[in-house]
Amino acid sequence: MEKKNIDWANLGFNYLPTDKRFVANYKDGAWDEGSLISDATVTMTECAGVLQYAQTCFEGMKAYTTEDGHIVTFRPDLNAARMEESCKRLEMPVFPQDRFVDAVVKTVEANEAYVPPYGSGATLYIRPFMFGSDAVIGVKPSNEYQFRVFTTPVGPYFKGGVKPITIRVCDFDRAAPHGTGHIKAGLNYAMSLYAIMDAHRQGFDENMYLDAATRTKVEETGGANFLFVTKDNKVVTPKSDSILPSITRRSLLVVAKDYLGLEVEEREVYFDEVKDFAECGLCGTAAVISPVGKIVDHGKEICMPSGMSEMGPVTKKLYETLTGIQMGRIEAPEGWIKVIK
Ligand code: PLP
Ligand code: COI
Repeated sequence: MEKKNIDWANLGFNYLPTDKRFVANYKDGAWDEGSLISDATVTMTECAGVLQYAQTCFEGMKAYTTEDGHIVTFRPDLNAARMEESCKRLEMPVFPQDRFVDAVVKTVEANEAYVPPYGSGATLYIRPFMFGSDAVIGVKPSNEYQFRVFTTPVGPYFKGGVKPITIRVCDFDRAAPHGTGHIKAGLNYAMSLYAIMDAHRQGFDENMYLDAATRTKVEETGGANFLFVTKDNKVVTPKSDSILPSITRRSLLVVAKDYLGLEVEEREVYFDEVKDFAECGLCGTAAVISPVGKIVDHGKEICMPSGMSEMGPVTKKLYETLTGIQMGRIEAPEGWIKVIK
């Protein structure tokens, strides 16, 4: 398979349409078979549930070319399960988990020419999503839905790749207690747009959201979970019912414990503790692990001892081990790698 002529090394995190996408429609209480199509556009009624009341959820995953030339994806079963949770919370029909994985595999296969080569620094981002597609004017769930999967080749999420970033403590809340912070609903991202643009206008790369109820505990950013390292090399990550259960974060805890022999703690993390940590990183499919060098709390700077020029040593080991597993350089735990080709 001849690869597309793309400058892989200089890709940002942007949308570049690829040849095929998977589409299935839900009508009269059932999903159709679905198929791969070429049309990247969607036509629907102006009154669609997604357009009026934001009835939509999505997933984010990646396909990688391994050192030995296979194309693989990482723990797609967990994305399928998480999408099921999102659908249930949004009164949307579940797209069966085995069919979700199958649709992802088919879409990646059909876009093989866009899967960045091993060592290029880029990956193929996979975006499964679902939305209410028929007319609703009273506030209620749609009757019809579309499930789609598209792919797009991407580079690093933050400009500068793995250079440490500066974030600020955000005065806006991301998710309410008992709200929708734990699912991947489009609405969580719509309401973060003002906060992220405001952060950028003030010179920050990202927002650190605190818990909405007490504003004393660290939650997450708009698109990634936090991971901290203590001065005695313990890996600590916030536990909260209102953050997205990141597959990257859950995997990194296993990597830390089983591959690096580190102690790990998933617990409430008070903002007051942050100044005492040695390293801080943002983890997610798009972010991989992006190191945080500085956290600014209303003008008060917390400079992580790992500094602004490089990832901290533990973050680096976690990054290298996780990406090593994803790219086939390091043996993966059972069931983590789904070989596509
Ligand atoms: N938190 C939020 C709000 C996200 O959007 C994402 C991205 O998916 C994550 C965390 C990281 O999750 P994952 O590692 O499953 O990609
Ligand atoms: C991901 O990491 O896949 C995300 O969805 C984060 C962001 C692009 C919304």
